[in-house]
Amino acid sequence: MLRMALAFVLTLALTSVGHAQEAGLSPDRAATGGAQTLNDILARQAGQAIDDSFRRDATGNPDNAAAIAAQLGTLGGVSDAETWRALRYGSADVTVSAGGEVASVLVQDGGMRWLEFRSTTLRTYGGWLLVGTLAALALFYLVFGRIKIDAEKTGRTVTRFKAIERFGHWLLGGAFILLGLTGLLVLFGRVFLAPLLGKGVNAALLDWSKWVHNNVAWAFILGLVMVFVMWVVHNIPNRTDLHWLRKGGGILFAHEHPPAKKFNAGQKMIFWSVILFGGAIALTGVSLLFPFDLPIFAKVFSALNATGLPQLLGYGELPLALAPQEEMQLAQVWHAILAFILMAIVLAHIYIGSVGMEGAYDAMGSGEVDEAWAEQHHSIWLEEYRAAEAENEKNSTSPAE
Ligand code: HEM
Repeated sequence: MLRMALAFVLTLALTSVGHAQEAGLSPDRAATGGAQTLNDILARQAGQAIDDSFRRDATGNPDNAAAIAAQLGTLGGVSDAETWRALRYGSADVTVSAGGEVASVLVQDGGMRWLEFRSTTLRTYGGWLLVGTLAALALFYLVFGRIKIDAEKTGRTVTRFKAIERFGHWLLGGAFILLGLTGLLVLFGRVFLAPLLGKGVNAALLDWSKWVHNNVAWAFILGLVMVFVMWVVHNIPNRTDLHWLRKGGGILFAHEHPPAKKFNAGQKMIFWSVILFGGAIALTGVSLLFPFDLPIFAKVFSALNATGLPQLLGYGELPLALAPQEEMQLAQVWHAILAFILMAIVLAHIYIGSVGMEGAYDAMGSGEVDEAWAEQHHSIWLEEYRAAEAENEKNSTSPAE
């Protein structure tokens, strides 16, 4: 889906970059006086990236105009076609008395590509990504079963997460589930629910979904900040992670339990995905919440250009002059793509934290885990925990000075 998205972003926002036309169709426009040829039309219909500067730049500069007597020449300095082209490619000098920059964009044909992407590629790939993830998890369960606690449970517990940590986690998790469900309703309601329940019910449901989505967003942001602040130090990668990964977490390659600190490498990957993807989803989401007021992609593209990466990959400089509408289209597209990827990752996290592993849920439920579970999955953390406890005990029993 990322590749499709990239392709979309490129057609949506990089139309000015000027990719070379497919070699075989490189047109000689002498016969049309510089206007588009059959080859241009065929290439466009075949979905190829076209260097459209011959049209884009032909917007009424009398110096560029073909002689009036020449075949298909312009009607003097500026023809109607040139005026419309200038409007279409955003180079017309439009002044409006109200509505600002947004209203001055009279034609924005990228909107059609955005609409097409949202109603086909995004729904199809996003939907199948979630269905595929659920199927993969079901298969994983069938092959590996539930990860059991090997040793006898001791009946003694240790505190894995304090109340504030569990609050932050459930604030984030609860908000995520609500945002995921309502986001999916907004995207799929019209195709799945409207035919099933009727347009009236669907509309009411979407009204509700939109309200919930817009307002629960703040809880998600707060949860994200809390979780980041509380756990970032425990999620910095270290050498034990390499060992843990080499052992496939003790499930994939061998049935043994590699030592881990408070979080193992798998959990760290989940943490950083949530922080980075969640952060980007929040940023694009807030940009969508305040339409046209918080454009971000021109800045992101500028930063990317500065790294030299797009140029290295052959995309040239990413465009920095984005119409306000393009900013919103990009925000919507990336919001949804990243949300789908994160939903798939979080499904795997929910699986391991519930049916996938015996004793895991207790850590976030009551906050207390059995010592046998802690020994099996987080042996270094348990040692540190016991050492800290012993230290505390020593301090509290030593006589006051
Ligand atoms: C700070 C957090 C967030 C904010 C401010 C936010 C905001 C928005 C807004 C304004 C929309 C457009 C709704 C519309 O069509 O009018 C949207 C759509 C959507 N959001 Fe979020 N959102 C946030 C977090 C999330 C999360 C965590 C998920 C996934 C778990 C998510 C999934 C979606 C989906 C799937 C859509 C539908 C996209 C579409 O209609 O094409 N959002 N969001």
